[in-house]
Amino acid sequence: MTDETYIGAIDQGTTGTRFMVFDHAGRVVANAYETHEQIYPEPGWVEHDPVEIWENTQTVVTRALEEEGLDPEQLAALGITNQRETTLIWDEETGRPIHNAIVWQDRRTTDRVEELQEVGMAGPIREKTGLEVDAYFSATKVEWLLDNADPIKLQRTRPEDVRDRAEQGELRFGTIDSWLIDRLTGNHITDVTNASRTMLFNIREMEWDEELLAEFDVPESILPEVRPSSDADLYGHTDPDGFLGAAVPVAGAFGDQQAALFGQTCFDPGAAKNTYGTGSFFLMNTGEEPVESDHGLLTTVGFQRSGEPVQYALEGAIFITGAAIQWLEDIELIDNPAQTETLARSVDSTDGVYLVPAFTGLGAPHWDGRARGTIVGMTRGTGKEHLVRATLESIAYQTRDVAEAMEADSGIEMASLRVDGGAVKNNFLCQLQSDIVQTDIVRPEVDETTALGSAYAAGLAVGYWETIDELRDNWQVDREFTPDMNPEDADALHARWIDAVDCSRGWARE
Ligand code: G3P
Repeated sequence: MTDETYIGAIDQGTTGTRFMVFDHAGRVVANAYETHEQIYPEPGWVEHDPVEIWENTQTVVTRALEEEGLDPEQLAALGITNQRETTLIWDEETGRPIHNAIVWQDRRTTDRVEELQEVGMAGPIREKTGLEVDAYFSATKVEWLLDNADPIKLQRTRPEDVRDRAEQGELRFGTIDSWLIDRLTGNHITDVTNASRTMLFNIREMEWDEELLAEFDVPESILPEVRPSSDADLYGHTDPDGFLGAAVPVAGAFGDQQAALFGQTCFDPGAAKNTYGTGSFFLMNTGEEPVESDHGLLTTVGFQRSGEPVQYALEGAIFITGAAIQWLEDIELIDNPAQTETLARSVDSTDGVYLVPAFTGLGAPHWDGRARGTIVGMTRGTGKEHLVRATLESIAYQTRDVAEAMEADSGIEMASLRVDGGAVKNNFLCQLQSDIVQTDIVRPEVDETTALGSAYAAGLAVGYWETIDELRDNWQVDREFTPDMNPEDADALHARWIDAVDCSRGWARE
């Protein structure tokens, strides 16, 4: 063991929880990961157990440190990054959640969303929050929890309903960042990027929006305090008598996609990245002014360092990409994700098969909560290699959909795109991505840029890194992929994809 200091990053994602420790050069020195249960109480509903998530967090932090013989005192700070929008409410006194967390993919509030659209709320909500009205975001989820969570689960003596207790300030609402900050420090805080995904936060005024709180009947008393993503004032310290046994400053938090934007050092307007996780999230830094989208993208908060202006981003949120590969494994078409590369390469094309993985509706730029997964173009000769290839191609086509929207909205033609996340280890996918989008794809050496971004936020806050130029120096290219397909072929393939997307629309009924 050395006495060198490091920065720790908790990356709490949809599928699992990772803890990584980084050194000053941004290299990974410790890493542990644990998955958690995906709970599907009804078709279209997705929940996580927040207590399991907190237990897994403690497990991965402890294990990563132990495996590398690191002392918690060597952590100069902790950063948090998280699956965004996933919503929970807990009892502020006991810390007990009143219900499972409702996951960002959950569609139970689709009816409420349609009601909002019918009464003309979509425009005002987009204006205030930068978001498309959709069940994806936290607002309708927190409203559902306040109306439907079982008060008995609160396990308190007073039998009042949940809303009543919320109004009395006895409950706390948060996304997963808030939940973990609360467990680690006891303080009820969220960062600007996570707040911007709730559909309750005004991204122009940078404050909770009174009209939206009234619309969703959310009492102010349950809201977390909103802080910069990298906060020199610190969110708090870990409890020296807690699981870590040390008072480590918790100083950074980021929604995972904004963390990846930061980890990819997209600090300047025009810089863009695409992260391939459960879904794919394509973000472009647009600088200090929010840019409105006319092409189905979201306007969102990119990051904020304390004492500095907010940086905004345009986002193409694609709900299912990596999860489609996971689905291939679930239905036993493949044994493991690595197999997709070999199978996809074993055929020259899908022979006209398209797979639209709209398992939880379609996000950007199509926005259809009732779209569902669809396979078109199958013949008697369709084999599993065609379906596997069609699944990988769907990732590339969906990225092209948002890339086109991004160029149209920003007026910036993308010369290259930085990529990260689990699926970019797949060289076939990276090449395909370059061919279909007709742009260079740049894969960095550290592909866990989500964790890295939140480590950077925490490290900058405590002076572990002095300037963002140090972070730029840490960023290194692993491999670059350039287009190998002629543009006409790419256009023709993509045009048929759009036909397939149309087939998936509006499928789910009441
Ligand atoms: O908006 C949802 C997103 O934050 C989920 O990311 O990496 O957990 O799929 P991930």
